[in-house]
Amino acid sequence: MSEKAELKLEGQSIELPVVVGTENEKGIDVSSLRAKTGYITLDNGYMNTGACSSAITFIDGEQGILRYRGIPIETLAEHSSFLETAHLLIEGKLPTAQELDLFTNRVRRHTMIHEDIKRFYDGFPRDAHPMAILASVVSSLSTFYQHEEGVRSEKEQFDLNTVRLLAKLPTIAAFAYKKSIGQPLMYPQNSMSYCENFLHMMFSTPAEHYEVDPVMAETLNLLLILHADHEQNCSTSTVRMVSSSKANLFAAITAGICALWGPRHGGANEEVIDMLEQMRTEGGGVKKYVDMAKDKNAKFKLMGFGHRVYKNFDPRAKIIKAACDKLLTKMKINDPLLDLAKELEEAALKDPYFIERKLYPNVDFYSGIIYKAMKIPTRAFTVMFALGRLPGWIAHAREFNEEPGNKINRPRQVYIGAPKSDYTPIEKRS
Ligand code: SDX
Repeated sequence: MSEKAELKLEGQSIELPVVVGTENEKGIDVSSLRAKTGYITLDNGYMNTGACSSAITFIDGEQGILRYRGIPIETLAEHSSFLETAHLLIEGKLPTAQELDLFTNRVRRHTMIHEDIKRFYDGFPRDAHPMAILASVVSSLSTFYQHEEGVRSEKEQFDLNTVRLLAKLPTIAAFAYKKSIGQPLMYPQNSMSYCENFLHMMFSTPAEHYEVDPVMAETLNLLLILHADHEQNCSTSTVRMVSSSKANLFAAITAGICALWGPRHGGANEEVIDMLEQMRTEGGGVKKYVDMAKDKNAKFKLMGFGHRVYKNFDPRAKIIKAACDKLLTKMKINDPLLDLAKELEEAALKDPYFIERKLYPNVDFYSGIIYKAMKIPTRAFTVMFALGRLPGWIAHAREFNEEPGNKINRPRQVYIGAPKSDYTPIEKRS
C-alpha cells in the first residue's frame, strides 16, 4: 500500500502521494496540489523541494555519502579514470574494456576546435576572465554544428555533441590560459591521455615540450572525478532548466558554466585562495577571520566552508585534503597556504558557531591548493571545476531529454507587488 500524506486546508482534507527513493528518502508529490486546492507551495532557494527524480547521483548530507550510479565516490577516486567515470554517469554503467577504448578514441578524435574559433581569442581582452571565455566559446560551438539537425536521430546528435564537448572543453580552457599569458595556442596531442593532454596544452610551448609529471596527471584525474557530478546543485539544475525548453546541449552547458561561476558555487575555489592570501598578507591569526565569519556585519564568509546538503564532512573534501598532502610532499612543495588552511579548518571546527550550523570544509576548500601546486592560475580554478562537472551536466541533460512526458520547467510564484492601479499620465507623475 503506497504511503500518503494528508493535508488539512480550509476545513478540507486532501491526500497527496508519497514518493520513496532507492535509499528510502521520501518526497510528497504535490503535482496535484493546485488543481485540488488552488494553493501552490513556496520554498525559497528550493531548500526542501525536489525538482525531479534522478538515477544519476545519490548524496546523503547527514552521513556524508556521495555515489555516482550507486558506486561510492571513494571507490571511483581510488580505481577509476575520468573518462570511465564520465561514461558511468552519462551511459549509466561502467564501460567494458572495449567500450572504454571506443569512447576514449572517439573523444581523442574531437579534441581540435574549428580554426575560425581561434580568432575569437584575439578579440577577448588580455585579462578576460576564463569563465567568460569558456561560456562564450562553448555557446559558439552550436554555430559550427547547426546544419546537422535531421542528419542523425536526436539521440545520435546528442551523443556526438557529448563527445565533442568532452573532447573540446580542455582545449578551449587551455587556449584561454595561453591567451591570458600571450603564448601561442598549443594544439592537443592525441597520443596522450585526457589529463596529460590538458597539462600539455596548458604548459608546453613551441619552444619547449612540457614533460607531464605522472603524479600531476594522476592528481588531476582524481580532481576531475571528484567534481564530475553532484545531483541537483545550482549549475546542474540550470542545465536541466535550459534543457527543458529543448534548447541545444551547447546552450544548456553554457548556462551551467555561467551558474557555476558564482562565488557561492564553483567560484568558491578561486575565492578560497584569495581569502587565504588575504589572511597571509594581513596577518592577525586565523581566529580573527573565524570571528569575522561569525559577525554578520563583517559581510565575510569562510569560503570553502558550508554546504546546502552536507551537514557532515563533504566526502570529496576529505579525499582532496589527503591528495593535497600527498602531492605537496611528493613535489617537495611547502605551501604556507596549506598550513594556514589546516589551521583555519581546525579553529572553525572547534567553534560553536560552525558546529551549531554544521559548517564543514566543502569540495572547494582544499582543491585550490592542489591547482596552485599544478601552477594553474587562480582565476582558472573554476574552469577546472567546469571541466570536471561537464559529464554530470551532460548526464542530467540526457536524463531529462529521455524522461517520458518531460515538461518545460516553469515554477510558480506568490505575487507580492502592487495591487491593480491606473496608468498615471506623465504630466501628473511626481
Ligand atoms: C559548491 O550544491 C552543491 O552540491 C554545490 C557543490 C557541487 O559539487 O556542485 O557542492 C559545489 O558549490 C560547494 C559550496 C561552495 N561555496 C562556498 O564555499 C561559499 C561559502 N559557503 C556559503 O556561501 C554557504 O555555505 C553555501 C552557499 C555553500 C550554502 O548556503 P545555504 O545552504 O544557503 O546556507 P546559508 O547561507 O543559509 O547558511 C546557514 C547559516 C547562516 O547563518 P545564520 O543566518 O543561520 O546565522 O550558516 C552561515 C550563514 O551565515 N554560513 C556561513 C558560511 N556558510 C553558511 N558562515 C560563515 N562562513 C560560511 N562559509
